[in-house]
This record gives sequence, C-alpha cells and structure tokens, in this order.
Amino acid sequence: MTKVLVVEGDPQVSTALARTLGDDGHDVEITDDLRSVLERLDAGQADWDVVVLDAASLKMAGAGRLDSLLVGSSSAMRRMRSALERLAGQDVSILIEGERGSGKELVARALHDRGPRRAKRFVALHCGAIPAALIDSELFGHVKGAFTGATGDRPGVFVEADGGTLFLDEIGDLPLVVQARLLRVLQESEVRPVGGGSERKVDARVIAATDVDLTTAVEQGKFREDLFYRLNVVVLQVPPLRDRLDDLPLLAAHFLKKHGGEKAPSLSPDALEAMSSYAWPGNVRELENAMEHASALHHSDVIGHESLPATITRGSAPPTHSDGSANGHPQPLTEAKRQAGAAFEKRYLVSTMERAKGSVSEAARLAVLDRTNFRRLLQRHGLDAMTFKAQ
Ligand SMILES: Nc1ncnc2c1ncn2[C@@H]1O[C@H](COP(=O)(O)OP(=O)(O)OP(=O)(O)O)[C@@H](O)[C@H]1O
Ligand SMILES: [Mg+2]
Repeated sequence: MTKVLVVEGDPQVSTALARTLGDDGHDVEITDDLRSVLERLDAGQADWDVVVLDAASLKMAGAGRLDSLLVGSSSAMRRMRSALERLAGQDVSILIEGERGSGKELVARALHDRGPRRAKRFVALHCGAIPAALIDSELFGHVKGAFTGATGDRPGVFVEADGGTLFLDEIGDLPLVVQARLLRVLQESEVRPVGGGSERKVDARVIAATDVDLTTAVEQGKFREDLFYRLNVVVLQVPPLRDRLDDLPLLAAHFLKKHGGEKAPSLSPDALEAMSSYAWPGNVRELENAMEHASALHHSDVIGHESLPATITRGSAPPTHSDGSANGHPQPLTEAKRQAGAAFEKRYLVSTMERAKGSVSEAARLAVLDRTNFRRLLQRHGLDAMTFKAQ
C-alpha cells in the first residue's frame, strides 16, 4: 500500500484529492503544516512514498525549496532515494556514476540538502570545462600576483565550500598532476593557494561524479589509483533514462509544468509511445529540452507525436500500422488511422492499468491524464477497472 501525504493549501482541493486517493486504497494522511513537511524531507525523515502538494501549497513552498527533489517512481529511483537518505547524514566520500544528463548533479545536491551541511554552501566545479592552466587556482585558490592576471587573492572552491559540500563533476578530466595535489588536500584537509600563502584547514565534504568508467581510466594510467580509492568509498549509480522508462510520464509532466506554467499541456498516448521507444542518449536533460520544445509548439492542451523533436520521432513510426484491410483493399487513410489509433489506445490503457494494479488514479497519473478523462477512456473501450485489481 502506498503511503501518500497530501499537503493542504486549498482545503477544498486537498480534501477531495485525499478522498479520491483513499478510495483507491492508498494510505492517506493529510496535513496543513507545510513547514514541518519540508523539514522532514530535508532531514531525510520522510516516511511517505509520495507527497502531493496542491497548486496553492506548491506556491507557498517556493520553487527553490523543491529544487533537489528527484522526480520518478521507477524502482531504480526508489532505490536511489533510500540510498540518499542513508548516505546524506554520513560524511563518506561518494562517487556518482552516470551518463551525461542523467541527474548526477541533482543527486549530489539532494545529498547536500538532506544532510547536516545544508546550511552551508554547495559548490560545483566542472573539472572538464576549465583550461588546464587554471585548474589549480580554481581548486585551491591563488594569491595576488601568483601569475599574470592574478590581480587579487582568490579563495578557490575548497575554501568556498568550507563546512559544506564540494561537488567535483567530470573528475576523470583532471590532469594527473592536479590529481596528486587533490589527493593530498583530501588526506590532509589543508589547502595552500597557488603562489604561496599559508596552509588553511578546510572541511568540505567531497562528492565526485564521472560519466566515464574510472576503472578503465586507472588501467590506462589516466587516473591515479590512490585517488580513485579515496573517492569511491561509496558508488552511486544513476541509471540512464532508457533503463527507467517508468519515470517518463512523471518526469515529462514535471517538465511540462515547469515550462508550460499553470495550464500545462499533457502528452497524447502516441507521443508517450514514441518517447518510450526512444533511447534518450542525452537522458533527463534531453527530455527536459524536448518538453520545452513541445510546450512551445503544441496547439491544443494535448501534445501529440508531431510536436516532439524530430530526433525522437524519427526512429519510431507514428502509430499507423498497415492499411488495415482484411480483403486486400486498402481502407481510406482516415479510417485506417482511426482504427489503428483506437487499437493502440486500448493496448495502452490495458498495460497502464496492469502496471497500476487496477488503481484508476495511479493509472491516470502514469498516463498524465486527469482521472475523469481516464475513466471515460476506459468506459469507451469497455474496460472495467475491477478486473485489473490483484486477486
Ligand atoms: N530525477 C529527476 N527529477 C527531476 N529533474 C531531474 C531529474 N534528473 C535530472 N533532472 C534534471 O535534468 C537536468 C540534468 O541533470 P544533471 O545536471 O543533474 O545531470 P548530470 O548527470 O550532472 O549531467 P552532465 O553529465 O551533463 O553534467 C537538470 O536540469 C536536472 O534538474
Ligand atoms: Mg553534471
């Protein structure tokens, strides 16, 4: 049974919501104490599977507070969330592995926001984006006159993140000489700025991320083995989006809301079908861009196949099958299209209801449709919700 917490902003909306969720067999709790909900989320003490905020409470929460909430209900995402809660409070070094755009930085931020260092800064450094000559100074700081252009003292990210968290993205891109200096700083918790000055104690929790396999880099002599062992006390793997397609509807809805505002459009079943058969090489970031693109292009409140970027739809034919004929004579295109669409819609409803174990609310949520419309679709196809409930 899913434990759902409904946060009340507008009592009328949230009471109705809670009743509907309860009717569908969820264990529902309702509260109007948004502050303590956020505190419990921050402290990793949330014992609900899902938190539902109505529009009014969402506004009160402020978008910023919810920045590091990881959207997704796949089993991979659930595992990730419980690992986060376990690890946020511990100061162990963590290495986050995952493809480009899969959410590594968000996971690092979530670790920071849920841990005891959250009142201090989270500082991110993208090691791959910095010219080699400047890396030392970015990491450890420099004193005035250390090199041409060093017109003043600069603290460096270790000092900026003192007391907080330092996120080193694309750690595999660090040159070997810098890796050696980084290891020394990690071992001694002291930095010395480029160009002299005195050593300074620093206490930053280091979280590193990589989208290349560091074991291979170690074998090839491109990454120091001792640094590798220092950094990867715990490894968190963020799975690529194509391995957790269950998250597509929720993530898509999240981004449509983000870019489409109050009256966010929803996705048509054929759009979702095309998205489910796409490989998402750019992962969640690519999905966000696609949803931004679609919200700029769509004409109605439903986003169809045709409003998706061509890279996504190119590989997957729109859901028109054959000519739909039984006797060798093609049917008119419009009729063939209608039949193929209806057949697809029914298959889609069946598989979504199966996945939702017979809960109409849950199925509607997965389909990113509202409950009333979803129920109407079931009726149109002669499907009975009861037949999907677990025996
Ligand atoms: N589970 C999620 N829920 C909500 N938003 C997400 C999720 N995962 C990723 N995002 C969003 O997708 C975008 C890419 O995520 P992020 O920057 O964390 O990826 P990354 O793995 O660090 O990428 P890169 O390798 O390119 O640095 C961000 O805008 C992030 O907020
Ligand atoms: Mg990143």
